[in-house]
Amino acid sequence: MNRTQCEFATLTIGKKTLKFPIVKGTAGPDVIDIRSLYRDGRVFTYDPGYTSTAACDSHITFIDGEGGKLLYRGYPIEQLAKASHFLEVCYLLLYGDLPNRDELDDFETRVTRHTMVHEQMHNLYRGFRRDAHPMAVVCGVVGALSAFYHDSTDVNDPEQREIASIRMIAKIPTIAAMAYKYSIGQPFVYPRNDHDYASNFLQMCFSVPAEPYQVNPVLSRAMDRIFLLHADHEQNASTSTVRLAGSSAANPFACIAAGIACLWGPAHGGANQACLETLKEIGTVDRIPEYIRRARDRSDPFRLMGFGHRVYKNFDPRAQVIKESADEVLDYLGTGDNEILRIAKELERIALQDDYFVKKKLYPNVDFYSGIILEALGFPTAMFTPIFALSRTVGWIAQWKEMLADPVQKIGRPRQRYLGETQRDYVRIADRR
Ligand code: SDX
Repeated sequence: MNRTQCEFATLTIGKKTLKFPIVKGTAGPDVIDIRSLYRDGRVFTYDPGYTSTAACDSHITFIDGEGGKLLYRGYPIEQLAKASHFLEVCYLLLYGDLPNRDELDDFETRVTRHTMVHEQMHNLYRGFRRDAHPMAVVCGVVGALSAFYHDSTDVNDPEQREIASIRMIAKIPTIAAMAYKYSIGQPFVYPRNDHDYASNFLQMCFSVPAEPYQVNPVLSRAMDRIFLLHADHEQNASTSTVRLAGSSAANPFACIAAGIACLWGPAHGGANQACLETLKEIGTVDRIPEYIRRARDRSDPFRLMGFGHRVYKNFDPRAQVIKESADEVLDYLGTGDNEILRIAKELERIALQDDYFVKKKLYPNVDFYSGIILEALGFPTAMFTPIFALSRTVGWIAQWKEMLADPVQKIGRPRQRYLGETQRDYVRIADRR
């Protein structure tokens, strides 16, 4: 940890006083380096869910949860959403700076040339039921990439790490689009090198061989913005899963498949699907108070999906941008008086005035409005989380590469507080009650 130590934290355990360096980052909370705690104090820290634990050093994304700020390599998400586009942000997240024109052209060409998947992978899809959730299919197919691209699975070879990164970012839209096509019984559509990243995904999802398909530039811009806003988010659950899997030197495709599996959970990336389903279940604005009551009721397992966040105790800046984009897309499509959007906005207004939500600092997060746009773009709810996974793949890859390059990195292996039986002797079955 290459940091200027500013002071020490002391911990007294019995007669022993231990000192731990407090070291600073360039922004955000200082950290207490407790790596010597078990060696010197013979105790563990205890932090289920890692609410107060920094698991690594990172230079990629910074979140100010109290201030509701999100920076990708120092650039505010609002500025990038307005002025940049997804592949440029991919370059920024992967390499640390905005590319010049030649660097961007080269990167876009490298990604474009890797968008096709091995033709034999088409057979993999046919092993799934047509009604399988697309996340199950995407997770399985991404895990299988190591069986087709084993020339980029040696994590100790920088060149293989680079080609695996490009392949993963390039192929995930194709894999997700094929999962969608398979689920609706339509033929797979190949990627096209004359389309930008977002337009390519839309044409792979919505074009059919029977007729020409023209990508709508307003809709592909909205799609690109959705990708950009979901690209990375510090050490969230799925990114931490990718880092932990990668710490054992597992191949990159297996690590990304692990991240996809974690993201699927409704408490994480699955919330965008769950949120739209909740809004539809509410059905009308006058039923909102009933659901607010249920969300406040600790005995009711119902939670307002798309609300609350481990880090943001203010507005999620991504939700703000997506809310504006939802208005633009629905107005453009002439469905601006969308009942679901009206329920979402009224629900947000009421919740933000409700003392339960205010006290617990529960604000809309990135998943609250994203489903409304995705549905307006023509996607079924089952495709919402695969699109989140598609977007987050670059963040997972950037964090995975950073973890492997970290000089202090070692295999992740947390300990526990043991509450089980102390040692006891085996009892023969004849002697048991
Ligand atoms: C994402 O980490 C990331 O960065 C994730 C993400 C990313 O980009 O990678 O931002 C993407 O996952 C966004 C979050 C999507 N999930 C949801 O919208 C699901 C609904 N939200 C909650 O499940 C919850 O807010 C979490 C899981 C997001 C955060 O959980 P925490 O930080 O562990 O907080 P908590 O569950 O302990 O909640 C704190 C309190 C609890 O009440 P008490 O036990 O203190 O009495 O707030 C309550 C919770 O009951 N609460 C909610 C609530 N969210 C939290 N009550 C009602 N509705 C909610 N949505």
